[in-house]
Amino acid sequence: MDFDVKDIALADQGKLRIEWADRDMPVLASIRDRFAAEKPLAGMRVSACLHVTTETANLMRTLKAGGADIVLCASNPLSTQDDVAAALVEHYGIRTYALKGEDTETYYAHVDSAIDHKPQITMDDGADVVGRIHAKRPEALADIIGGTEETTTGVIRLRAMAADGALKFPIVSVNDAMTKHLFDNRYGTGQSTLDGVIRATNRLLAGRTLVVSGYGWCGRGIAMRASGMGSNVVVLEIDPLKALEAVMDGYRVMPAVEAAAIADIWITVTGDVNVIDSAAFEAMKDGAIIANSGHFNCEINIADLREKAVSVREVRPLVEEFTMADGRVIYLLADGRLVNLSCAEGHPANVMDMSFANQALAAEYMVKNAETLKPGVHPVPEDIDAEIARLKLATMGVKIDTLTPEQNKYLASWQEGTV
Ligand SMILES: NC(=O)c1ccc[n+]([C@@H]2O[C@H](COP(=O)([O-])OP(=O)(O)OC[C@H]3O[C@@H](n4cnc5c(N)ncnc54)[C@H](O)[C@@H]3O)[C@@H](O)[C@H]2O)c1
Repeated sequence: MDFDVKDIALADQGKLRIEWADRDMPVLASIRDRFAAEKPLAGMRVSACLHVTTETANLMRTLKAGGADIVLCASNPLSTQDDVAAALVEHYGIRTYALKGEDTETYYAHVDSAIDHKPQITMDDGADVVGRIHAKRPEALADIIGGTEETTTGVIRLRAMAADGALKFPIVSVNDAMTKHLFDNRYGTGQSTLDGVIRATNRLLAGRTLVVSGYGWCGRGIAMRASGMGSNVVVLEIDPLKALEAVMDGYRVMPAVEAAAIADIWITVTGDVNVIDSAAFEAMKDGAIIANSGHFNCEINIADLREKAVSVREVRPLVEEFTMADGRVIYLLADGRLVNLSCAEGHPANVMDMSFANQALAAEYMVKNAETLKPGVHPVPEDIDAEIARLKLATMGVKIDTLTPEQNKYLASWQEGTV
């Protein structure tokens, strides 16, 4: 079997961690059991480009149980857990191409290995496989029936392709499922981003000014959790509604250049480019820590920071110290790559349980509906979303009420008004 992982000897350690995550992914496990019995993906070639983590390993096991023939590559050069990559190859027989710290050339060579698999289904986190196929490997289009996309940034790229008439096959937007972004983006990114900052720096969050750029699903989670740990949270936005929401949620809101002067820790999570830019580097306090939890590291203008610095050194693993001409230092975490996946382990399994339940069911949906789905971005059907929420509640032992016949009738009627 062809593969590219750092050290196959790490496989046993990876297996233990995959099993640990699996204990907290009961919804995905129940789908795996059904897939093993029904084989809804029988013989389907799947090329997945996802963060190679313990949770992803359990998704791969689920797809394989459903009969899929899978190749996995990394969706980020720094997010791979090398022991998990080794275990996927050694213990689960899944061809994996992923090395933590791989350079850009190796990253795309791995994406190409996934495309060489001649996928019928693509599974992306950030649309790199789909983008590469359309731009450089159009011969692969012939076999593809459809794909799935995990994250906000990928969905934005795919919608832009669809609007240009460039997208040649249907893609299910897993990110848009309520059981994905409401929980993964908010609670997952909220907890794991701070986990990444803490593991990298071991700095106290209490009493510190923590700036969050972007008050979307992820930004709300980070602000909420940082506030809970005693930080003075400042939110930066460009959308007046989101900014207003942040104000009403009790945070200070201001322009970036004002925030730069007070930030102890500044985290970007916007999906946008150069959110921390040249003017901010000029205004920043000595010792400020900057990190990104959005999909691409272009959220921080790292090239400008490197140019401004008179010296750069790594002071802890994944913590670079940039010394400015006036003597101030700025600390950049993980080269601006997703801080939660680079410096910690990504989202806890319990939220990925729902995100990856959506991925597995979206792949099944794609196989069943390939004939009728047109090229473009399609939502996860509402009944899949509701079923995942129902299953998740059941695994948590939470019961809820159902509508009585009287309530059903009342809610469906329009005749009743003020009495
Ligand atoms: N770290 C992770 O594990 C993880 C998980 C999920 C999503 N993501 C990524 O995080 C990013 C954000 O995702 P989301 O779901 O919160 O998206 P979202 O669309 O809900 O929120 C993004 C917010 O950023 C704001 N914004 C855009 N440009 C800005 C700027 N220059 N300054 C300040 N605010 C700006 C937008 O107005 C919006 O409110 C995406 O890149 C997504 O792919 C990362």
